[in-house]
Amino acid sequence: MLSRRHLFSFAAASLLAGAAPKRGMIVRSSRAEDVEMPLEGFLESYITPIDRFFVRSHHYVPAVDLAAWRLQVNGKVGTPISLTMDELKKLPRVELVSVLECAGNGRGLYEPSMAGLQWTYGSVGNGRWAGARLADVLKKAGVQPGAVEVLFDGADVPVGKQPEFQRGIPFNKAMDPNTLLAYEMNGEALPKEHGFPLRVIAPGWAGDCWVKWVTRIEVRDTESDGFFMKTAYRHPGKGVAPGTAVDPAQMKPVTTLGIKSVIASHLDGQDIPLTATKLRGAAWSNESPVSIVEVSTDSGRTWRQARLGKEAARFGWRQWELDWTPPQAAYYSVMARAKNALGETQPMQPEWNPSGYGHNVVQVVRLNATATPKPARAPANANAGEVPAVVKQTCFGCHGVEAIEQQRMNRTQWEREVEKMQRWGARVTPENKDALVDYLANRYPYRPRK
Ligand code: HEC
Repeated sequence: MLSRRHLFSFAAASLLAGAAPKRGMIVRSSRAEDVEMPLEGFLESYITPIDRFFVRSHHYVPAVDLAAWRLQVNGKVGTPISLTMDELKKLPRVELVSVLECAGNGRGLYEPSMAGLQWTYGSVGNGRWAGARLADVLKKAGVQPGAVEVLFDGADVPVGKQPEFQRGIPFNKAMDPNTLLAYEMNGEALPKEHGFPLRVIAPGWAGDCWVKWVTRIEVRDTESDGFFMKTAYRHPGKGVAPGTAVDPAQMKPVTTLGIKSVIASHLDGQDIPLTATKLRGAAWSNESPVSIVEVSTDSGRTWRQARLGKEAARFGWRQWELDWTPPQAAYYSVMARAKNALGETQPMQPEWNPSGYGHNVVQVVRLNATATPKPARAPANANAGEVPAVVKQTCFGCHGVEAIEQQRMNRTQWEREVEKMQRWGARVTPENKDALVDYLANRYPYRPRK
């Protein structure tokens, strides 16, 4: 049976469906909205325009009435407070540029693959955010001694029986003067898919901490233990043997971003002519800014420094470019690696982890330099084909086929996924379970990413 809560969120989602059109975005899920920026987005401008900015939503966009909206601050505070948007805007306005990157960016590039949105490079963007300091809001309520965590809750309502999306950050990060509660993005009111009217800005930290649609902030003297802290968004803190299951209790919440660079000007496997070309891309880091980007065009034997774009900010990305003429007709492995001011750099080999977070291995783009290049072909999108009725009836109530067709999983993984959906409210029965798993495992089997 659909709960009232479910019906409500479904209705809210349908009302708000078909939000602002997004230019050439890769749709990972149309409902709730998860869209990825294609590679060319890295090159267009220093600040990523809103219609090119990736969106990650666990739940549907909630309908928010700003007149009735309040921000509650409670927990280990002197006085619980409730602020209107006008009151919040009376606090000093702070503006900063920061990369926002999904913890799962690059998940689709891990081998073996795991369940989850199969992001490649573009669940990241460089935004200009403005709002109040979280520390100023907390000071208004007066923090009690012993605070260790600040937990955020939003107006969004879980889909089916999925747990509430709540995430916390350590108290120190909450008090950092760069941690904001933003009501503006790129000079506009925060768009609804980015958390209207208020979202967390945690510069240098992964997107799961940048909670959207914030309505309640809780100061805690213990670490919170909701699903998205205790089970999801956890990382072993080291690479583990690919394919190994790790008990969430042995992992830690995802925090800072990895240092990373993306080659955005060329597609892996494409032909190029034997004439001068510009290798271009963008690089970003954690709380320490990018200092150099080096590029190798000879499989990592030698590295040259790329020119960095003039525009820079502590938490922003750097665009970069390097002129290169292939010395002869040959097959080249081109790589880019960034270093930050602390001297941290990227790994040369992927560090696999069970949920596919923090993908920042040095990217390799193979280019075939030839006198007779064939035009580059963008990777084809999977075609859903005819979907059996049992799948349509059981699987398309909460999200569309896109959430399913991008997965690359073996039968065991699909069985686990179907059981998870059953826990989250899908009507999987002992009678239809095998048919579902058979279809999914045959139609969307594990396949290496080319
Ligand atoms: C009652 C609602 C509901 C139904 C019905 C449902 N799902 Fe889901 N599904 C979810 C939710 C919630 C998510 C996660 C959304 C998020 O966190 O972004 C999800 C995500 C997914 C994903 C993305 C990977 C992941 O684990 O996040 C896959 C694949 C998936 N579902 C498959 C299925 C299949 C197959 C069926 C049919 C057997 C199904 N779903 C039916 C609620 C549902």
